[in-house]
Amino acid sequence: MVGRDRQRGEAARKRLVEESGNPLIDLVLGDVSSIAGVDALAEKLLQLERIDVLVNNAGYLGSERRESQDGLELHLAANVLAPWRLTHALLPALRTSDSPHVLNVTGGSPKPKAVDVENLQAEKGFKGIMTYMHSKSCLEALSVALSRKLDEEGIRVNVVFPGNASTVMSRSLSLKGMPGLLKLMRPLFLLMFAEDGGKSAAKASRSTVWAVTSDALRKRSGAYFDTNCKEKKMHPSAYDSKVHQGIISVIESVSAV
Ligand SMILES: NC(=O)c1ccc[n+]([C@@H]2O[C@H](COP(=O)([O-])OP(=O)(O)OC[C@H]3O[C@@H](n4cnc5c(N)ncnc54)[C@H](OP(=O)(O)O)[C@@H]3O)[C@@H](O)[C@H]2O)c1
Repeated sequence: MVGRDRQRGEAARKRLVEESGNPLIDLVLGDVSSIAGVDALAEKLLQLERIDVLVNNAGYLGSERRESQDGLELHLAANVLAPWRLTHALLPALRTSDSPHVLNVTGGSPKPKAVDVENLQAEKGFKGIMTYMHSKSCLEALSVALSRKLDEEGIRVNVVFPGNASTVMSRSLSLKGMPGLLKLMRPLFLLMFAEDGGKSAAKASRSTVWAVTSDALRKRSGAYFDTNCKEKKMHPSAYDSKVHQGIISVIESVSAV
């Protein structure tokens, strides 16, 4: 498991060991919001030699436009570039697995939305949660691109939607991060994301756990599974290779994989 903070990560690791009875859980510190952070993390993870499953779960949701230290809009950097770059960096370890699987955790709307290649860095205006959702649509598109690229090697790439949960990330959603009429939904959001002692997070994580453990996915790649583990089509733009190229050219303008 990966996190940015030793104290938080160690507390979570201890709880996992206690509840699962599995002592073989390691914490690796890393921050995927910059290229240097992704590369440093990859270097540590490559000491594992073999990786069977990579879950790109870390996500970012911001209330104002910020850039990563590489000069990319931060949602694009953390939610799109990071899983793309980390997956490429970890290919040597994934290739040694009998059944390698990359699972990208998406979010935002349960109904997949279009990618606008002219708005990858919120050029048309930063819109908080909408900008977050758009970055997840980009992640869905790049998951399809990656699944096609890695298909011949037998490395599967799938997408899972966990469903809404009260977590540090969702509770950080402020009024500022809700554009226009969405502000009217604030009371509903506060209710939906009220602290519940991890109950909704445990429920939401079930689709991720299922996706990495179920035999049903042993032969599936480039697919999207919702919070109920049901396969769904992504938005047509996610399957468009011109859209893939558009996203790749922007994220690789700061550094190629
Ligand atoms: N919560 C929801 O309602 C919801 C709905 C749909 C989809 N999702 C998606 O589900 C995934 C998990 O979200 P969450 O709500 O559980 O978020 P979270 O509460 O922020 O937890 C994310 C985990 O990733 C780690 N993390 C966060 N940023 C990181 C970074 N830059 N580098 C390395 N590790 C980082 C966090 O640990 P540290 O803070 O210690 O680093 C934490 O363990 C995200 O991809 C999110 O978009 C969430």
